[in-house]
Amino acid sequence: MKKVTIRTLAKMKREQTPIAMITAYDYPSAMLVEEAGADVILVGDSLGMVVLGYDSTIPVTLADMIHHTKAVTRGAKRAMVIADLPFLVAHLSRDEVLKAAGRLMQEANAYGVKLEGGSEIIDQMQALVQAGVPVMAHLGLQPQSVNKLGGYLIQGKDPSSALHLIEEAKKVEAAGAFALVLECVPEELARQIRDEISIPVIGIGAGRYCDGQVLVFHDVLQIGGGDFQPSFVKRYADVGELIKQGIRSYVEEVKGQQFPAEKHVSHLSPETEQHLYGGGQKEKEGIL
Ligand code: KIV
Repeated sequence: MKKVTIRTLAKMKREQTPIAMITAYDYPSAMLVEEAGADVILVGDSLGMVVLGYDSTIPVTLADMIHHTKAVTRGAKRAMVIADLPFLVAHLSRDEVLKAAGRLMQEANAYGVKLEGGSEIIDQMQALVQAGVPVMAHLGLQPQSVNKLGGYLIQGKDPSSALHLIEEAKKVEAAGAFALVLECVPEELARQIRDEISIPVIGIGAGRYCDGQVLVFHDVLQIGGGDFQPSFVKRYADVGELIKQGIRSYVEEVKGQQFPAEKHVSHLSPETEQHLYGGGQKEKEGIL
């Protein structure tokens, strides 16, 4: 079992082997996605929405990220585990950013961190890389800026914003990021970025020509989330429905007194029973 490292991902890009990345937020989901063959597990701050029930990633704290990353890294032995720096943290002083990344790596055992943003946080990115922190950059749609953007909108559609994104991608590469998540951009632009930088480009809603893909665990498996589903998501299983069916059967059997059945219970030995009840007590109570 060879651990996935930044060298593995660089080689995958060189050899055009697609990188499969998916989010996970706890111990069992980390084990499942690793057993299913994912190369990279992202403890995304999307956990704010799919696990904690917030309506954006903005309320997610560093403490939340540490808590969930700890659980994920206990479940993942081979896959690379990357943890998101939550809202605003990447914009703090270099010292603060280093401390936050240090906590995610030392306390929670993350392999590295992901930061949303480009030129505006390039100093922080460089400081992290210089300190030995593997940095995954995140450009295109940056969900932490949803309030500023006015919604989860496709980015880089017009010539100037497309050119700007290409420049930003080059800057994060030059700053030392080992990979780039590119979210919600037209696939032609994603392809150009993939070709113009040497680090792996992992797309979400960025089309078919990236070096890898990432999706959110709960979207892939249709767990929670109501009816809204971004058009770039493919649902691979309806686990939400399976869970409901299972729990519905449990509730029905508890109410119908079919659970627990004989095979789920333990019994006193006849001697203890005799001692406790003096014989016959159980029959009187209608237990036997
Ligand atoms: O938080 C997250 O899950 C992410 C992915 C959507 C890339 O950043």
